[in-house]
Amino acid sequence: MASTSSSSPSTTTVAIDLGDRSYDILIGEGLLGQPGTYAGLPKSATALIVTNTTVGPLYTAKLTQALQAHHKRVLSVELPDGEEFKDWPSLNQVFTTLLESACDRKTVLYALGGGVVGDMTGFAAACYMRGVPFVQVPTTLLAQVDSSVGGKTAINHPVGKNMIGAFYQPQRVICDIDTLDTLAQSELLAGLAEVIKYGPIADAEFLSWLEANLDALLARDRTALRHAIRRSCEIKAWVVGQDEKEAGLRAILNFGHTFGHAIEAGLGYGEWLHGEAVGCGMVMAADLSARLGLIDQATSLRIKALIERAGLPIVGPALGAERYLELMSVDKKAEDGEIRFVVIDQLGKASMRPAPDAIVREVIAAHTA
Ligand code: NAD
Ligand code: GLY
Repeated sequence: MASTSSSSPSTTTVAIDLGDRSYDILIGEGLLGQPGTYAGLPKSATALIVTNTTVGPLYTAKLTQALQAHHKRVLSVELPDGEEFKDWPSLNQVFTTLLESACDRKTVLYALGGGVVGDMTGFAAACYMRGVPFVQVPTTLLAQVDSSVGGKTAINHPVGKNMIGAFYQPQRVICDIDTLDTLAQSELLAGLAEVIKYGPIADAEFLSWLEANLDALLARDRTALRHAIRRSCEIKAWVVGQDEKEAGLRAILNFGHTFGHAIEAGLGYGEWLHGEAVGCGMVMAADLSARLGLIDQATSLRIKALIERAGLPIVGPALGAERYLELMSVDKKAEDGEIRFVVIDQLGKASMRPAPDAIVREVIAAHTA
C-alpha cells in the first residue's frame, strides 16, 4: 500500500509498504543538495555513484558533495549512454570498479540517471557480494514515475528486453524535479507515456487531469510535474505494494508494453525511445481492448488522442504481423508461448488476457505504417 505525506513544504514523500523492504520516494526541488534527503540511509565507508557519460558531468559533483557527509569515500563510474549499452559489458564495468576499489558488502550504490542506469545499478547491487544496498536517484521523468520504483532491475539480451534481472528493492528513491531541467524534450515526452498509462489502468480522474494539464506538463510547469510524479508514484506504490513480484496485478503496469517491446526489439534497441514505443503500444492495446468488446471505440480514441497530443508516435513501424507476433511471444507475460496482453476493462481498471491472433493482426494492420 502507498501513503503520501509532506515532510517539508517542498518535499512530498510517497511511502511504499513492502514489510522489511519498505522505503520512501521523495519528490521535490533541490533534493540532490539537501542534507535531509540522505538522512537515515546506510552510512557505509564507501558509496559508488553509477551514472553515465551524459548525466555524470551534470550531477555527479553535486551528489558527491552531498554524500561526503555520509561516506568516507565517494566513488563514481560512468557507463556509456544508451539502451544499447544496457548489457553485460556495462554491468561488468560496475563490478570491475567495485572489485578494483576493494568495495565491501556494506558499500551503497547510488543510481544517478534514467531508467537504463537505474535498472543496471539495481541489478549490480542485487548481485555484488550477493546483495548490497542501493539508492535510486532518477533524473528522467520516466525513471521518476516508473522505473526507479518497485525493484525491477535488469539488463537486455539480444533476444529479449530486460530478460536478465532480479527483483531487488532500493533503500530510497530521490526524485529531484530540478534535474528534469536538462532533459531533452523527446525524453520528457517518453516519460509522459508512462505517466499517461496510469490513467487508463488505475485512475480515470487522473486521465481527465492529464487531459486538462497536458500543456502545462509539456511546458514543464513545476506544479503540474510534481502532481504528475506524485500521482504516478502513488499508483505504482499501491500496485507494487500488493504484488511485488508480479504474480498478477503488477502486470497491469505493462499496459502498452507488449506491443511496445516488439517495436523496440524489432527495430533494434535504441532506435525508438522506450517511452515512444510504449506510447504507440498503448494506442494498439487500447484498440485491442475495444476490438475485444471491453471498452467502446470512443474510449480507445480518447486514449489515442491524449498520446498524440503528447507528441508521441501513434503509428508503429511496418515490421509485419508475423514479426510482431514472434517478438511478442518472448514477452515475459507470455505463458507457454501464448501472448498475454494488458487490456482496459473500463477506464481506471485493467487486466491481462490472451487475444485471438486474428484480432491482434487487425490491430497491427490498423496501427502500423
Ligand atoms: P535512459 O536511461 O536511456 O535516459 C534517457 C536519456 O536521457 C539518456 O541519454 C540519458 O543519458 C539522458 N538523461 C538522463 N537524465 C538526464 C538529465 N537529467 N538531463 C539530461 N539528460 C539526461 O532512458 P529512460 O527513459 O529514463 O529509461 C528507459 C529504461 O527504463 C529502459 O531500459 C526501460 O526498460 C527501463 N524501464 C524500467 C522499468 C522498471 O520498472 N525497472 C520501468 C520502465 C522502464
Ligand atoms: N514498469 C512495470 C513494472 O514496474 O512492473
